Amino acid sequence: MLDTIRDKFRPTPQPKNTDDVVGLPNPPYHVGIIMDGNGRWAKANNKTRFQGHRAGTENLRRILTDSVDFGVKMLTIYAFSTENWTRPPREVKGLMKILEMVIDRELEELHQNGVRLRHLGQLNRLDPALQQKILHALDYTKNNEDLIVNVAFNYGGRNEIIEAVQKLINDNVTSEAVTEALLSDYMYTAGSPDPDLIIRTSGEFRTSNFLIWQAAYAEYYITPTYWPDFDREEYYRALSEFCNRDRRYGGRNK
Ligand code: FPP
Repeated sequence: MLDTIRDKFRPTPQPKNTDDVVGLPNPPYHVGIIMDGNGRWAKANNKTRFQGHRAGTENLRRILTDSVDFGVKMLTIYAFSTENWTRPPREVKGLMKILEMVIDRELEELHQNGVRLRHLGQLNRLDPALQQKILHALDYTKNNEDLIVNVAFNYGGRNEIIEAVQKLINDNVTSEAVTEALLSDYMYTAGSPDPDLIIRTSGEFRTSNFLIWQAAYAEYYITPTYWPDFDREEYYRALSEFCNRDRRYGGRNK
């Protein structure tokens, strides 16, 4: 049954081998990913949820490499939402540990590969030692340009908007001065272009509070594939599908 549903979901035919793909004609500059389905992947593979998140982390490594190969310049990954605090403490702890391990073990390699890390979200609820590691990673990679990776960790889109409004008020900005461009400058993503494409794995059709301001005109690619199984081939398919979308931004073609 599940396989039938998955097959139904599967979009357009895809290239069998993407190893020789040099690039796409017009790849999205900024891709956002809601990496969903680690838990269901774990269940389907008789693993613990922590192992599911670890498998998701391994997949992220592959997707970073693929992003560079496919010409994507900015990636925003949804790693921990403000709502994820409601999960059992053990799982929350596991996700914190994973971020710490990624920084401890992968930072140098990410740096060598020209990855610039940025953080989106509230730092202050995190353990102070983890906050320090995050700040160090941001600073250490700040001059890299090959791929910008925004890690949304303790991130919520509504919370981001509230914080932006609070900052506007604290800056004594008058109501007449508030424009879309100005509000964008008060978001965690200030200075970055909006996401062109948002990928959501594991088949849920919702935004889950991810980049809700920035994604106003993003294209979505939703797949039933669980995040740990979302591979290079399907990533290429998502990007190719994006290249064939007709983006009208509310206008119309002649
Ligand atoms: C959603 O799957 C996934 C998360 C809440 C965490 C995503 C984190 C990673 C992929 C690890 C990478 C993290 C960092 C910090 C680099 P789910 O648990 O909701 O899956 P389910 O819906 O199947 O239960």
